[in-house]
Amino acid sequence: MTNIDAKVLRNCFGKFATGITVITAVAPDGTQLGLTVNSFSSLSLDPPMILWSLDKKSKSLEALEQATHFAVNVLASDQMDISNNFARSSDDKFDDVDLIESKFGLPLLAGTVAYLECKNINAIEGGDHIIFIGQVESFETNDKKPLLYTNGQYTIAARHPLTKLPDAGDAEDTKHHSSDDFIVPLLLRSYWEISDPFYQELQDEGIPVSHARILVHLSHETELTAAELAKAIRVDMASVSMSINWLSNNGHLDTVAEDKYVISEQGLVHLNKVQSRAQRFEKEILDGYSDEDVDMLKTMLRKLIYRQDI
Ligand SMILES: Cc1cc2nc3c(=O)[nH]c(=O)nc-3n(C[C@H](O)[C@H](O)[C@H](O)COP(=O)(O)O)c2cc1C
Repeated sequence: MTNIDAKVLRNCFGKFATGITVITAVAPDGTQLGLTVNSFSSLSLDPPMILWSLDKKSKSLEALEQATHFAVNVLASDQMDISNNFARSSDDKFDDVDLIESKFGLPLLAGTVAYLECKNINAIEGGDHIIFIGQVESFETNDKKPLLYTNGQYTIAARHPLTKLPDAGDAEDTKHHSSDDFIVPLLLRSYWEISDPFYQELQDEGIPVSHARILVHLSHETELTAAELAKAIRVDMASVSMSINWLSNNGHLDTVAEDKYVISEQGLVHLNKVQSRAQRFEKEILDGYSDEDVDMLKTMLRKLIYRQDI
């Protein structure tokens, strides 16, 4: 026994950011098993091995000890619901979950960033957990973004702003393009780099970006028709109508005379949520740049937009 407080220690462990996996297997009686696990780690390249640990109190312990194989499904950033689903102790975890074909008859989850099919080669005691060691027999990856977990919260990955861009000849999406000498492609690419992870974050929060942009616009312009909104946020009428319908049905917009829309009280609450996320996101993105650099960039962009000082 030590005098370490388990709750405080858990918080300390949580400082270490991890990905999220769902370990799946088939019990000897044919039942499909699956549980959310972030204790996964690579172990050895030659031979190819991985490990993860299971709470001795888990309902799946006995079946996993007997399973000849298990799969490690590495979750993608849009699979938070899958993580929550498999973190429940329940017999219906596989209801409504899409599976893909496996070489070893394992339940492989669709839509992940990677999976590894492993032979279950060892189980070692580790305090209140059992460490499972698997030999990798087959694996697949793709370019989706992974779901991350730190400080007890789901997060997503973004390139650190202080990391040096790879030299030309490295990854296709980050190499120096000849178009980098022109302002418009530079603006476009910097917009995509920053907005993609932010929009993904909003999407994961259940706030589609087109809806959010309508609310932001109405907070400046107060009353606009659907056509004016479509023009302002540069999307087609069909998409803007869909967003307006959703926002109206959810009480975020009110209609005023001549088919003009205004933001409702509830819409303002929703907008505040989006804006505080945007502030936090901007802080993260700009972390490491000096205040002077940031001010200069913002000033220059405003000058370009409003054609000032020329
Ligand atoms: C983000 C996250 C990570 C987790 N990591 C582990 C883990 O590494 N090992 C573990 O035994 N349980 C872990 N759990 C808890 C299990 O997923 C949860 O207790 C699950 O219900 C166990 O399945 P069972 O019903 O088969 O026992 C984690 C849960 C979450 C949300």
